[in-house]
Amino acid sequence: MTDTTTEQQQQSTTSTTSLITAKSFAALITVLAVLAVTLAFSTSLRSALSSALSKTTTTTTTTRSMATASPAAMKITKRPWAARGHADHDWLYTYHTFSFASYYSPHPLHQSFGPLRVINEDRVKPTTGFGTHSHAEFLIFSYIVNGTLEHRDSMGNLENLKRGEVQFTSAGTGIRHSEYNRNDKDEVHFLQIWAKPNKSRLTPHYETKKFTDEQKKDNLVRIMEYTERLGEKTDTSPIGLQADLSMDASILSPGKSVTHEVVAEGPRKIFLQLIMSGRAQPKDGGAKIKVGDTVLGEGDGAYIEGVSGPGKVQVESVGDKPAEFLLFDMGPEDA
Ligand SMILES: *[C@@H]1O[C@H](CO)[C@@H](O)[C@H](O)[C@H]1NC(C)=O
Ligand SMILES: *[C@@H]1O[C@H](CO)[C@@H](O)[C@H](O)[C@H]1NC(C)=O
Repeated sequence: MTDTTTEQQQQSTTSTTSLITAKSFAALITVLAVLAVTLAFSTSLRSALSSALSKTTTTTTTTRSMATASPAAMKITKRPWAARGHADHDWLYTYHTFSFASYYSPHPLHQSFGPLRVINEDRVKPTTGFGTHSHAEFLIFSYIVNGTLEHRDSMGNLENLKRGEVQFTSAGTGIRHSEYNRNDKDEVHFLQIWAKPNKSRLTPHYETKKFTDEQKKDNLVRIMEYTERLGEKTDTSPIGLQADLSMDASILSPGKSVTHEVVAEGPRKIFLQLIMSGRAQPKDGGAKIKVGDTVLGEGDGAYIEGVSGPGKVQVESVGDKPAEFLLFDMGPEDA
């Protein structure tokens, strides 16, 4: 807008000048002086005006998003549970939100969303698992829903991860690890999530932390946080990661709602994932959440665009069982 105005003014100045040059040099000097003053004045007037205008805009935006917990501009794209990529390898029963392994979808929303690149909802049968394999660069975290997952890696870590625990590995320059279900009766159900770091060749890092059901009940608990937004480390602080991504978890009772405050200023991408209680979404009932006018059932996800900070997003539990879900708040740059 401003650029066009300036260009038009410069064009009209040029044509005025050439017209006058034909008349007299003295008159030209006078006209140029007048023009210079006018331009100088109008420039400062313009900047005063535009700064006044932008202040008004900011105030309006803030007031609007404070007043309604689900901004009217939200664009929600549902990712229905059964439309995700799916594989049943017998030992592994999995759903892929984004293109992964043999599942490929060319849709941009199925490639990545902000720094988020993978969400796999995995069930691993007793006494099987992912043998030793290597990773580099990605930030990988496993959110354990049920059962026990053994994690062993080339940094010397060996752990048995249970419900509530989140295992985070920043693969950086490279690690090797295995993930195994050593239990001989029960399967393990977990979400494995990958995000792209904002920096390559980081030193590999490993961290596990537990977040209890009590903490998550009718609450949003910050599980993962961008190191830039991470305050002092305490027993309850989130796990830091090097990507503009915050992840919260909640177990929301029917009828309750929670409000997420957008974590940073400017445009954000929000993703919601409702965790499944079984291998398929229940035909009737089960856990359900509502965001804007969209209702998600078990296993459904939602891409939310058109949100900016400061602002709020409200999620309501509208099913007949407590809804365990993850909420990601991310910078707009795609991985
Ligand atoms: C957790 O796993 C056990 C053993 O497989 C199963 O009996 C139980 O129903 C599961 N619980 C949930 C909430 O899925
Ligand atoms: C990446 O994140 C780190 C902090 O985690 C920050 O200091 C740095 O500026 C970020 N780099 C880029 C390229 O955004």
